[in-house]
Amino acid sequence: MNKPISVGTETKEGSVTLSSQGLANAWYIEESHWIRERDNVVAKTWAGLGFSCDIPDVGDTAPVSFMGLPLLMLRDEGSNIRVFHNVCSHRGMQLVIEPGNKGLMIRCPYHRWGYDLSGQLKTTPNIGGMGVHEVEGFSCSDHGLKEVRCAEFMGIVFVNLSGDAPPLQDHLQPMIDRWEALAGKQFDQCLVADTNKGSLELTVNSNYKLAIENYCEAYHLPFVHPDLNTYSPLSEHYNLVVEPLASGQGTRTYDLTRGNQAPLPTFPGWAQSQLKTGEYLSLYPNVLLGIQADHFFAIVLLPEAVNRTRERLQLMYAGQDALGQPHTERRENLLDAWSVVFAEDVSVVEGMQQGRASPGFTGGVFSPVLDIPTQHFHHWFSERLPA
Ligand code: FES
Ligand SMILES: [Fe+2]
Repeated sequence: MNKPISVGTETKEGSVTLSSQGLANAWYIEESHWIRERDNVVAKTWAGLGFSCDIPDVGDTAPVSFMGLPLLMLRDEGSNIRVFHNVCSHRGMQLVIEPGNKGLMIRCPYHRWGYDLSGQLKTTPNIGGMGVHEVEGFSCSDHGLKEVRCAEFMGIVFVNLSGDAPPLQDHLQPMIDRWEALAGKQFDQCLVADTNKGSLELTVNSNYKLAIENYCEAYHLPFVHPDLNTYSPLSEHYNLVVEPLASGQGTRTYDLTRGNQAPLPTFPGWAQSQLKTGEYLSLYPNVLLGIQADHFFAIVLLPEAVNRTRERLQLMYAGQDALGQPHTERRENLLDAWSVVFAEDVSVVEGMQQGRASPGFTGGVFSPVLDIPTQHFHHWFSERLPA
């Protein structure tokens, strides 16, 4: 059964007191904690790894470094996305180093062992000496790539490293229910990614959790995002908690009228009385989502080190028409506007990372109103830590 959804600053779940403390600094700065966190928290749920549009064609491959793990996304012969550990079975060479199309066979750069797009080892050149490609007692079928469970939703590729989380759709259902009520049934079906000028990448010198936490709250809006605050002011925001998987904030006054060209198409099922609503969720553990009547975006946070995170933003629109020339200016304006907002967040996210090196900080305190979504994330994280 779906868990109840809590909305508004009146949110009862996760009510906090001023003395509530956040996670200890070690969870942001210690490599050993980072690996424990990967194996005990992140691995056991669905984490974002990339976007479906990263690998549109059969044979496309994209290596991704994820919390110290070399992974490989690819599109197989059936046009399905698959994820493997990006390591050759022979001597452990990283198999794919650069993104690109490999055709139907991925060859290791070291000794040219070849794998098909289902991860099966197919060729082992010279394994038995020059010109001898097979040896007795060695079966290719025993040495394929190790696969990682993956699934797609809203154009995002998710992985479940442990392999035993509930199906992705079930996991996301409370959030899907909430956004179907806002954007219409199966709103995800009409999402199209803008692969022309609809993406952005940033590297922040911070633990990925601080990007999640910063996105949870609108408290910093007037001071860090003064321009955004003019068309989507803090006073019009409300807290969001979607049990048990996400938290963030929403606004009632997001302005859709930027630029002079034709307005972008809106989601067909979007409630007309809520055209200026925008909702922003940190989907735990590492995806930031934003939905408005005429566009959607996702940011996948790729933790490259305990104190360094690659942020990948992808804009998506409500149907193919939105990508046409009449809407170019609006789409460019949106990317520009969001680029400013996310660049403004870098200094505060990095500043919090710096602060976590200090013994003078021991988890801090939460605003009992405006930090409710942030503390919800801390609860979610803490509950999943091993004793
Ligand atoms: S390590 Fe890949 S073929 Fe040798
Ligand atoms: Fe921000």
